[in-house]
Amino acid sequence: MNKPDIQDYRYHAILCCGKKCEPEGDRSLLLHIKSRLSELGLNDVRVNRAGCLGVCEQGPIMVIYPDGVWYCDLNKGNIDQIIQQHFIEGNPVKELVFHISGE
Ligand code: FES
Repeated sequence: MNKPDIQDYRYHAILCCGKKCEPEGDRSLLLHIKSRLSELGLNDVRVNRAGCLGVCEQGPIMVIYPDGVWYCDLNKGNIDQIIQQHFIEGNPVKELVFHISGE
């Protein structure tokens, strides 16, 4: 069996684009984060969308693995902060974190 090739990703982010997280349905946050990561050359960060991550009250929600860090109340500004502080510097943005898996 031929197995697919895949690059090693440093981070895998799953951004919710469900109706409660993104009522406009324009995927503006998804487009923003993908665009910024591309501009910055952060090819080792994979972003995928989810239909619902099950914690809709304080959306938009995004979870980042392998750290298991869950973010809420996202907007373009704090997504830029997550890109800089979490993806580039390796430190979660504590004021936006509402859960860390295993803690
Ligand atoms: S719609 Fe985003 S967590 Fe449910």
